[in-house]
Amino acid sequence: MSTSTSTPQAKTAYGAGREVVLDVDELRVHYRTPTGDVKAVNGVSFQVFAGETVGLVGESGCGKTTTAMAVLRMVQPPGRIVSGHATVAGTDVVGLNEKELREMRWVKLALIPQGAMNSLNPVMRIRTQIADAIETHLGKQPKEKLKARILELLNQVGLPARVYDMYPHELSGGMKQRVCVAMAIALNPPLIIADEPTSALDVVVQRVVAQTLMDVKKRLGVSMILIGHDMGLQAQMVDRIIVMYAGNIVEIAPITRAFKIPLHPYTQLLIASIPSIKERKPLKVTEGITHDLRNPPPGCVFQYRCPFVQEICRTKKPTLREYTSGHQAACHLYESPDDMGSHAQAAAAMKELDR
Ligand SMILES: Nc1ncnc2c1ncn2[C@@H]1O[C@H](COP(=O)(O)OP(=O)(O)OP(=O)(O)O)[C@@H](O)[C@H]1O
Ligand code: SF4
Ligand SMILES: [Mg+2]
Repeated sequence: MSTSTSTPQAKTAYGAGREVVLDVDELRVHYRTPTGDVKAVNGVSFQVFAGETVGLVGESGCGKTTTAMAVLRMVQPPGRIVSGHATVAGTDVVGLNEKELREMRWVKLALIPQGAMNSLNPVMRIRTQIADAIETHLGKQPKEKLKARILELLNQVGLPARVYDMYPHELSGGMKQRVCVAMAIALNPPLIIADEPTSALDVVVQRVVAQTLMDVKKRLGVSMILIGHDMGLQAQMVDRIIVMYAGNIVEIAPITRAFKIPLHPYTQLLIASIPSIKERKPLKVTEGITHDLRNPPPGCVFQYRCPFVQEICRTKKPTLREYTSGHQAACHLYESPDDMGSHAQAAAAMKELDR
């Protein structure tokens, strides 16, 4: 495979003039099964700009982890990248060979995987695990320099120096997760993908880990993709949000806009389903189940569950269009910018949901 290196340009008005750290273009990832390919990621395109935090949300199985794995070229068989590109800091990872991939991972892009804390080796001290991550890429380091760097990393994620000599079983879940954050920033990558970094932690510890990520982001200026289900947490942590449904991106928006004027009916349902302690009301559930990913329907992917489905939705797939700066949606309700300009459709949709 050949290496392609170039500096991608922003593709939306929102990104004009900003440095593009990640450019995902028409990416498709399938899992082969005896009864046909599962189209887990079905042609997604998005960009991440320098210094921003982008949330990737959507219900379980919509393709968030698969997208992240494809960007890292870590999709395992029976999965494979079928087509598309993912350009990380100017290099298209789809064309890289194994050696080039090893050089890219951790240096240009680090992953805090789903269930990261369980992936720490139980029989190795924390110092050895962080040292391994550093020396695998930088080669053998002078002992004192390496120790100083590991202690610096532990300090950066708010862990005491004594963690240096500890084993994973001596740490709480939140501490282990912060060790994973320390490993992710060890080589100063410009981009970190954190796949549900706070799930399986209690709410107090969730906050601590979320705060650690935000502190790290602020101090180091890295870009971050934060995968998660918790819309409340997303609201507090991200600059922009990407909403996925059944392998497709259905909406991208600056976070305040997404909450104020969600355009796509699926995003509206996601927001309507956030529980409120101020107002006791029955929880909104998104009725129905996702279609079989081996056989996506013609037309809109959300048609079977959409309260506003129209005839055109059954036959024509809506394209992701930018309506106002940074706000993109794929829905036939907004065929012309005027539909969105007046927010009439969005307002009507919201009203309908509140009934
Ligand atoms: N090895 C596999 N074989 C077949 N299908 C798979 C395989 N791995 C994942 N899938 C399917 O790909 C789709 C996307 O999975 P993925 O793990 O990316 O979802 P996700 O959005 O990260 O979900 P979650 O929120 O539960 O972590 C799912 O429908 C899943 O069933
Ligand atoms: S395109 Fe149609 S089915 Fe799809 S979300 Fe919009 S209104 Fe609903
Ligand atoms: Mg996942």
